[in-house]
Amino acid sequence: MTTLNINGVVHNVTVPDPNMPLLWVIRDIVGLTGTKYGCGIEVCGACTVLIDGSAERSCNMSVSEAVGRKITTIEGVSADGVSHPLQKAWIQLQVPQCGYCQSGMIMAALENFPGGDGSGISNVCVCGTYQRIKAAIVLANTL
Ligand code: FES
Ligand code: FES
Repeated sequence: MTTLNINGVVHNVTVPDPNMPLLWVIRDIVGLTGTKYGCGIEVCGACTVLIDGSAERSCNMSVSEAVGRKITTIEGVSADGVSHPLQKAWIQLQVPQCGYCQSGMIMAALENFPGGDGSGISNVCVCGTYQRIKAAIVLANTL
């Protein structure tokens, strides 16, 4: 049995291998599918979650590395039913195109929020929404 703290909720999960990527556990065992799989090699950032407040790529982190740490996924950003300022700004500026990368982008922006202008985010958006992402982060800091 592996115990994970995800979005403030304790999950006791059975994982077949302690080296299983955290992303698989979040999506396939816990059932939180907002975190996406893109490249699987720590490049694209679609799988970004916060680990103790730091943005981390969960596709190449073993689940055992996440034990005892505070994991936040996109579902936890508005767990109280109220949209986060980043989410409000994302909607206001209609940031997403296909949307696939966007949960990872918001999690990457959250690492330095409040503050930041998106310049340090290395996540990939195949649709090229970078300018709107940066504008939304700036807007979110005013909301
Ligand atoms: S899926 Fe993790 S960085 Fe691309
Ligand atoms: S909105 Fe399509 S990959 Fe970013």
